[in-house]
Amino acid sequence: MKSEHSVRLIFLILMALNFLSGMMSANNYNLNTNTICQKSRKANMSRKNVCRKQPVLREQVDAGKTLAIEVCQENFIDRRWNCTTSHSSHRKIMKTDTREAAYLNAITSAGILYSVTRACSMGILWQCHCDGTKRDVASNEMWSWGGCSDDIVYGYNKSKQFTKNKHISSDIKELVRNHNNEAGRMTITKNMRRNCKCHGLSGSCTVKTCWRNMPPFDMVGKALKDRYDGAPKVTGDNDGKTLIPEGKTVKPPSNLDLVYTDESPDFCVPNKKYGTSGTMGRLCNATSFDPDGCDIMCCNRGYERQSFQVRQKCRCKFVWCCEVVCDTCINNVTIHLCK
Ligand SMILES: *[C@@H]1O[C@H](CO)[C@@H](O)[C@H](O)[C@H]1NC(C)=O
Ligand SMILES: *[C@@H]1O[C@H](CO)[C@@H](O)[C@H](O)[C@H]1NC(C)=O
Ligand SMILES: *[C@@H]1O[C@H](CO)[C@@H](O)[C@H](O)[C@H]1NC(C)=O
Ligand SMILES: *[C@@H]1O[C@H](CO)[C@@H](O)[C@H](O)[C@H]1NC(C)=O
Ligand SMILES: *[C@@H]1O[C@H](CO)[C@@H](O)[C@H](O)[C@H]1NC(C)=O
Repeated sequence: MKSEHSVRLIFLILMALNFLSGMMSANNYNLNTNTICQKSRKANMSRKNVCRKQPVLREQVDAGKTLAIEVCQENFIDRRWNCTTSHSSHRKIMKTDTREAAYLNAITSAGILYSVTRACSMGILWQCHCDGTKRDVASNEMWSWGGCSDDIVYGYNKSKQFTKNKHISSDIKELVRNHNNEAGRMTITKNMRRNCKCHGLSGSCTVKTCWRNMPPFDMVGKALKDRYDGAPKVTGDNDGKTLIPEGKTVKPPSNLDLVYTDESPDFCVPNKKYGTSGTMGRLCNATSFDPDGCDIMCCNRGYERQSFQVRQKCRCKFVWCCEVVCDTCINNVTIHLCK
């Protein structure tokens, strides 16, 4: 009887672990630290040491970089530069101080902060946890702090550490990169938001607890894209410590602004230095005057029209009980591609 009990208990524990690990992987939290460390074994001794000491942290940093690339590509799908990673393009661009490098630096440092902080809140990292100071603080307002507030201090610090400049050739370059890295982190810290939840009988909201969250990362990527579009070109002041805009009428950059010193190429044709392949074959919008419009996207080279038919489900009806029945419609789709 007793052993049957413990067998059942072990079974339940295994089920729970299975469920948890499923949840983790669903959230891209792959806890297999060995693979990551194997990957960086060939790299540098110092990185290897970091890996051995803090494998889970290392994983979160890498997850942050991946998140940054995803969001970059979503945001630039309608631009000549589409954040492509082929031909080591990012590494090449990061050697320059163009707007594109500014965006990549900012979104990457934001991605690391975001990913590490989220791991803190979820209890994946032992070095950090929820913000305890924002918990159960009685308040004369109708709500109190509770639950798990994102504590960005640790993630902020780690983002700073993992985006630290190496082999920088000049002061101004270092200033520009530090500025853009910081702009990425500031886009998160200045957009922290309050979330609340009601408690009480049948959701009557007699008790309300609130916690602070980071903004969704999509919002961070979008905000940085606006800063990319408005980025001022800067030079170094005589003291070599401050960045001043080149245009006399432009106001000094705030800590949320992206800045650049190098002009970008037009990205119309393949460019070896940047690892980009030009806009031939890119999708464009024949009726738009924005950067996704065919005139701008195709650099006035013209475009081709392609039509084809797609079969789609349509006129779906709910049939009692319990089925959804659809017709198949044939839709004409027309797309435009740059010559
Ligand atoms: C390893 O990294 C350090 C700085 O982190 C750098 O100075 C050194 O050149 C690197 N070594 C190799 C072999 O890449
Ligand atoms: C931030 O990191 C530095 C080392 O890079 C460390 O000395 C400092 O204590 C850290 N601060 C916090 C608040 O974690
Ligand atoms: C970016 O554009 C190139 C063509 O210039 C295309 O081959 C590539 O698939 C695009 N990448 C993304 C991520 O959209
Ligand atoms: C093309 O651009 C027009 C005008 O900006 C817009 O209304 C339309 O939705 C766009 N079409 C597509 C397929 O994005
Ligand atoms: C799709 O195009 C075909 C000819 O290309 C035409 O006969 C048909 O009516 C079109 N259907 C729709 C829904 O526009």
